[in-house]
Amino acid sequence: MDTKIYVTYNDIHKAVKRLACKVIESDFDPDVIVAIGSGGFIPARILKTFINRPIYAVGISYYGIDNIPMDSPQKIQWIDEVQQKLAGKKILLIDEVDDTRVTLSYCLEELLSHDPEEIAVLVIHNKQKAKGARFPEAITRYFAAFDVEDRWIRYPWDAPDIEEHDECARQHYLKK
Ligand code: G4P
Ligand code: MG
Repeated sequence: MDTKIYVTYNDIHKAVKRLACKVIESDFDPDVIVAIGSGGFIPARILKTFINRPIYAVGISYYGIDNIPMDSPQKIQWIDEVQQKLAGKKILLIDEVDDTRVTLSYCLEELLSHDPEEIAVLVIHNKQKAKGARFPEAITRYFAAFDVEDRWIRYPWDAPDIEEHDECARQHYLKK
Protein backbone atom coordinates (compact mmCIF):
# COMPACT_ATOMS: atom_id res chain seq x y z
CA MET A 1 0.00 0.00 0.00
CA ASP A 2 1.15 3.53 -0.81
CA THR A 3 1.83 5.12 2.56
CA LYS A 4 2.55 8.57 1.17
CA ILE A 5 0.46 11.54 2.15
CA TYR A 6 -1.02 13.33 -0.90
CA VAL A 7 -1.74 17.02 -0.53
CA THR A 8 -3.61 19.14 -3.09
CA TYR A 9 -3.29 22.85 -3.87
CA ASN A 10 -6.68 23.35 -2.25
CA ASP A 11 -5.49 21.57 0.91
CA ILE A 12 -2.48 23.92 1.02
CA HIS A 13 -4.60 27.01 0.40
CA LYS A 14 -7.06 26.12 3.16
CA ALA A 15 -4.28 25.18 5.59
CA VAL A 16 -2.49 28.49 4.98
CA LYS A 17 -5.73 30.42 5.45
CA ARG A 18 -6.31 28.64 8.76
CA LEU A 19 -2.76 29.44 9.89
CA ALA A 20 -3.09 33.06 8.79
CA CYS A 21 -6.24 33.36 10.92
CA LYS A 22 -4.33 31.99 13.91
CA VAL A 23 -1.54 34.52 13.37
CA ILE A 24 -4.03 37.37 13.03
CA GLU A 25 -5.82 36.26 16.21
CA SER A 26 -2.51 36.15 18.08
CA ASP A 27 -0.79 39.39 19.03
CA PHE A 28 1.97 38.75 16.49
CA ASP A 29 1.82 41.26 13.67
CA PRO A 30 4.67 40.51 11.26
CA ASP A 31 6.48 43.20 9.27
CA VAL A 32 7.89 40.77 6.71
CA ILE A 33 7.44 37.19 5.51
CA VAL A 34 10.59 35.15 4.89
CA ALA A 35 10.05 32.07 2.74
CA ILE A 36 12.45 29.15 2.70
CA GLY A 37 12.74 27.87 -0.86
CA SER A 38 11.68 26.12 -2.61
CA GLY A 39 8.96 24.40 -0.60
CA GLY A 40 8.00 27.60 1.25
CA PHE A 41 7.49 29.74 -1.87
CA ILE A 42 3.94 28.79 -2.87
CA PRO A 43 2.65 28.72 0.74
CA ALA A 44 4.25 32.17 1.25
CA ARG A 45 2.42 33.61 -1.73
CA ILE A 46 -0.88 32.22 -0.49
CA LEU A 47 -0.15 33.64 2.96
CA LYS A 48 0.29 37.09 1.41
CA THR A 49 -3.38 36.98 0.37
CA PHE A 50 -4.32 36.98 4.07
CA ILE A 51 -1.32 38.76 5.62
CA ASN A 52 -0.15 41.31 3.08
CA ARG A 53 3.54 41.83 3.84
CA PRO A 54 6.67 41.87 1.67
CA ILE A 55 8.07 38.40 1.01
CA TYR A 56 11.83 37.77 1.13
CA ALA A 57 13.11 34.49 -0.23
CA VAL A 58 15.98 32.47 1.13
CA GLY A 59 17.36 29.26 -0.28
CA ILE A 60 19.03 26.79 2.02
CA SER A 61 20.01 23.26 1.17
CA TYR A 62 20.96 20.51 3.54
CA TYR A 63 21.15 17.86 0.86
CA GLY A 64 24.00 17.69 -1.64
CA ILE A 65 24.49 15.45 -4.64
CA ASP A 66 22.62 12.12 -4.37
CA ASN A 67 20.38 13.62 -1.69
CA ILE A 68 22.95 12.95 1.03
CA PRO A 69 22.87 15.44 3.93
CA MET A 70 25.92 17.72 4.13
CA ASP A 71 27.72 18.54 7.41
CA SER A 72 25.46 21.52 7.86
CA PRO A 73 22.90 23.34 5.71
CA GLN A 74 24.32 25.73 3.11
CA LYS A 75 22.96 29.05 1.90
CA ILE A 76 22.06 28.86 -1.78
CA GLN A 77 20.42 32.26 -1.81
CA TRP A 78 20.20 34.86 0.94
CA ILE A 79 18.56 38.24 1.44
CA ASP A 80 20.63 41.16 0.17
CA GLU A 81 21.13 43.97 2.65
CA VAL A 82 19.75 41.66 5.34
CA GLN A 83 20.89 43.81 8.23
CA GLN A 84 18.87 46.80 7.14
CA LYS A 85 15.82 44.79 6.04
CA LEU A 86 15.49 42.65 9.17
CA ALA A 87 16.92 44.62 12.08
CA GLY A 88 14.14 45.45 14.56
CA LYS A 89 11.53 43.72 12.38
CA LYS A 90 9.00 41.04 13.23
CA ILE A 91 9.55 38.13 10.85
CA LEU A 92 7.16 35.37 9.93
CA LEU A 93 9.30 32.49 8.63
CA ILE A 94 7.45 30.05 6.42
CA ASP A 95 8.29 26.60 5.07
CA GLU A 96 6.20 23.70 3.87
CA VAL A 97 7.42 21.03 6.28
CA ASP A 98 9.13 20.75 9.64
CA ASP A 99 10.92 17.44 9.12
CA THR A 100 14.28 16.99 10.88
CA ARG A 101 14.18 20.71 11.87
CA VAL A 102 17.85 21.05 10.88
CA THR A 103 17.31 23.49 7.99
CA LEU A 104 14.71 25.49 9.88
CA SER A 105 16.92 25.85 12.96
CA TYR A 106 19.92 26.85 10.87
CA CYS A 107 17.84 29.47 9.09
CA LEU A 108 16.49 30.81 12.39
CA GLU A 109 20.02 31.17 13.84
CA GLU A 110 21.11 33.06 10.73
CA LEU A 111 18.10 35.37 10.80
CA LEU A 112 18.49 36.00 14.55
CA SER A 113 22.04 37.20 13.94
CA HIS A 114 20.51 40.20 12.12
CA ASP A 115 18.74 41.41 15.29
CA PRO A 116 15.07 41.14 14.37
CA GLU A 117 12.55 42.04 17.07
CA GLU A 118 10.97 38.60 16.88
CA ILE A 119 10.64 35.61 14.58
CA ALA A 120 7.64 33.29 14.44
CA VAL A 121 7.68 29.99 12.54
CA LEU A 122 4.84 28.80 10.33
CA VAL A 123 4.74 25.42 8.55
CA ILE A 124 2.02 23.40 6.85
CA HIS A 125 3.16 20.00 8.16
CA ASN A 126 5.03 19.12 11.32
CA LYS A 127 6.33 15.55 11.28
CA GLN A 128 5.98 13.82 14.63
CA LYS A 129 9.48 12.44 15.01
CA ALA A 130 12.72 12.85 16.93
CA LYS A 131 14.12 16.12 15.54
CA GLY A 132 17.77 16.52 14.58
CA ALA A 133 17.94 20.10 15.89
CA ARG A 134 16.23 22.39 18.37
CA PHE A 135 14.80 25.81 17.70
CA PRO A 136 16.78 28.66 19.27
CA GLU A 137 15.34 29.72 22.64
CA ALA A 138 14.25 33.08 21.23
CA ILE A 139 11.62 31.28 19.15
CA THR A 140 8.42 31.07 21.15
CA ARG A 141 5.73 31.18 18.48
CA TYR A 142 5.17 28.20 16.23
CA PHE A 143 2.19 27.67 13.92
CA ALA A 144 1.67 24.28 12.22
CA ALA A 145 -1.45 23.36 10.29
CA PHE A 146 -1.04 19.58 10.65
CA ASP A 147 0.91 17.27 12.91
CA VAL A 148 1.58 14.21 10.77
CA GLU A 149 3.21 10.81 11.07
CA ASP A 150 6.74 10.46 9.74
CA ARG A 151 5.68 9.55 6.21
CA TRP A 152 6.61 11.07 2.85
CA ILE A 153 4.34 13.93 1.84
CA ARG A 154 3.59 14.42 -1.86
CA TYR A 155 3.13 18.12 -2.53
CA PRO A 156 1.20 19.24 -5.62
CA TRP A 157 4.10 21.32 -7.00
CA ASP A 158 6.16 18.12 -7.32
CA ALA A 159 3.51 16.34 -9.38
CA PRO A 160 4.38 15.64 -13.03
CA ASP A 161 0.64 15.09 -13.63
CA ILE A 162 -1.58 17.20 -11.38
CA GLU A 163 -4.82 15.38 -12.35
CA GLU A 164 -3.29 12.04 -11.37
CA HIS A 165 -1.96 13.58 -8.16
CA ASP A 166 -5.37 14.96 -7.22
CA GLU A 167 -6.96 11.59 -7.99
CA CYS A 168 -4.45 9.86 -5.64
CA ALA A 169 -5.32 12.42 -2.96
CA ARG A 170 -9.04 11.69 -3.48
CA GLN A 171 -8.55 7.92 -3.29
CA HIS A 172 -6.50 8.24 -0.10
CA TYR A 173 -9.16 10.49 1.37
CA LEU A 174 -11.92 7.96 0.54
CA LYS A 175 -9.96 5.13 2.19
CA LYS A 176 -9.72 7.02 5.47
P1 G4P B 1 13.48 21.04 8.10
O1 G4P B 1 14.48 21.83 8.88
O2 G4P B 1 12.45 21.91 7.44
O3 G4P B 1 12.86 19.93 8.90
O4 G4P B 1 14.21 20.42 6.86
P2 G4P B 1 15.32 19.27 6.68
O5 G4P B 1 16.67 19.81 6.99
O6 G4P B 1 14.88 18.05 7.40
O7 G4P B 1 15.28 19.07 5.10
C1 G4P B 1 14.15 18.74 4.59
C2 G4P B 1 14.24 18.77 3.08
O8 G4P B 1 13.51 17.63 2.70
C3 G4P B 1 13.52 19.96 2.53
O9 G4P B 1 13.79 20.12 1.16
C4 G4P B 1 12.07 19.50 2.63
O10 G4P B 1 11.28 20.21 1.73
C5 G4P B 1 12.24 18.03 2.22
N1 G4P B 1 11.24 17.16 2.84
C6 G4P B 1 11.24 16.64 4.09
N2 G4P B 1 10.18 15.84 4.28
C7 G4P B 1 9.48 15.88 3.11
C8 G4P B 1 8.27 15.23 2.67
O11 G4P B 1 7.62 14.46 3.38
N3 G4P B 1 7.88 15.49 1.40
C9 G4P B 1 8.58 16.33 0.57
N4 G4P B 1 8.10 16.52 -0.67
N5 G4P B 1 9.72 16.95 0.95
C10 G4P B 1 10.16 16.71 2.21
P3 G4P B 1 14.85 21.17 0.66
O12 G4P B 1 16.12 20.45 0.47
O13 G4P B 1 14.86 22.35 1.54
O14 G4P B 1 14.33 21.55 -0.74
P4 G4P B 1 12.89 21.97 -1.32
O15 G4P B 1 12.20 20.68 -1.65
O16 G4P B 1 12.13 22.74 -0.28
O17 G4P B 1 13.26 22.76 -2.48
MG1 MG C 1 11.71 22.93 2.01
